[in-house]
Amino acid sequence: MKEWVLILGCSTGHGGATTRKLAENGYGIIGFHFDRGDIKKEAGVFCEELKGVNDGRCHFFNTNAASPEVMDEYLPKIKEITGGEPLKLLLHSIAFGTTTNFFGEKPATQKQMEMTIHVMGTSLLYWVQKLHDAELLANGSRVLGLTSEGNYLAMEGYGPVSVAKVALESITRQIGWELGQHGITANCIQAGVTPTRALTKITDRWEEWVELTKERNPMKRTTRPEDVANVVYLMLQPEADFINCSIVYTDGGEHRSGM
Ligand SMILES: NC(=O)c1ccc[n+]([C@@H]2O[C@H](COP(=O)([O-])OP(=O)(O)OC[C@H]3O[C@@H](n4cnc5c(N)ncnc54)[C@H](O)[C@@H]3O)[C@@H](O)[C@H]2O)c1
Repeated sequence: MKEWVLILGCSTGHGGATTRKLAENGYGIIGFHFDRGDIKKEAGVFCEELKGVNDGRCHFFNTNAASPEVMDEYLPKIKEITGGEPLKLLLHSIAFGTTTNFFGEKPATQKQMEMTIHVMGTSLLYWVQKLHDAELLANGSRVLGLTSEGNYLAMEGYGPVSVAKVALESITRQIGWELGQHGITANCIQAGVTPTRALTKITDRWEEWVELTKERNPMKRTTRPEDVANVVYLMLQPEADFINCSIVYTDGGEHRSGM
C-alpha cells in the first residue's frame, strides 16, 4: 500500500489535480480545502467522488489550514489516519490572499500584506515545524510549494502575493537546507499561467493574460493543473531523492520566453 500525502488546497486547481492523480495512483490522501457558498458544493462533489477511488483512503477537511489552531487540532487526527507513519508529501497549494497593487485605488494595507504572506507563504513553515516535531516527516518525505513568475516579475494585482511567493521560496530553500541531512527534501514547483479560480481573482484582465501566455509560451498553451500533478507525482519517485532546495519549472518553458 502506498504512503499518505497531505495536500493543503486540495479541492481545485493544482492541488485538486494532484489529489486526483495521487489518489488514482494509490496514495492515501489527507486534504484540506477552504470552500464556502456555491464552491462548497462543488468541492463536496469532488471529495465524495475521490473517496471512491482508492479504497476510501481519502480524508478531506473543509477548514482554514493556515490557522495555527487548526494545525494543532488536526495534527493528532493526521497521526491517527497514517497510524503514525510519516507522510510521503506535504504539498502547499493554497490560493487565498489580497490581489491588488501597492498604489492607486486600493493600495495593499499592512493587514492584507500580513494575511497574504502568512496564508500563501509562512503557513507552510509552521506546518513543517509541527509535522516534523510529531515525527510525521522522515527520510524520503517531500515538502513542495507552488510558486510563480510573480516571484521575480512585477505584475498587475500581484503585489501582496508576490511577497508571499518570495517568502515561500526562501522557506522551502531553508527547510531543504536544514532537513536534507535527514533525507527530507523541500522544493518549489513554478507553474506557468494556469486558468484556475485563483487566476480570475488577480485581475479582471485575466483572459488577456491567458491569450498573451499562449503567444509567449514556447509550447503555445497555458499550463494545466494536470501538468503540475504529473510533476508532483514524478517528485515522489525515489529517482527524485536528490532534488532539494530547487525550483522545478512546470511551464513548458514560459519563464525562458523573451516575449
Ligand atoms: N493559477 C496560476 O496561474 C498559478 C501559477 C503559478 C502558481 N500558482 C499557485 O498555485 C497555488 C494554487 O493555486 P490555484 O491556481 O490552483 O488556485 P485554486 O483557486 O484553484 O485553488 C486554491 C485551493 O486553495 C484552497 N484554500 C484557499 N484558502 C485556504 C485555506 N485558508 N486553507 C485551506 N485551503 C485553502 C481552496 O479551497 C482550493 O482548494 C497557489 O499557491 C498559486 O499561487 C498558480
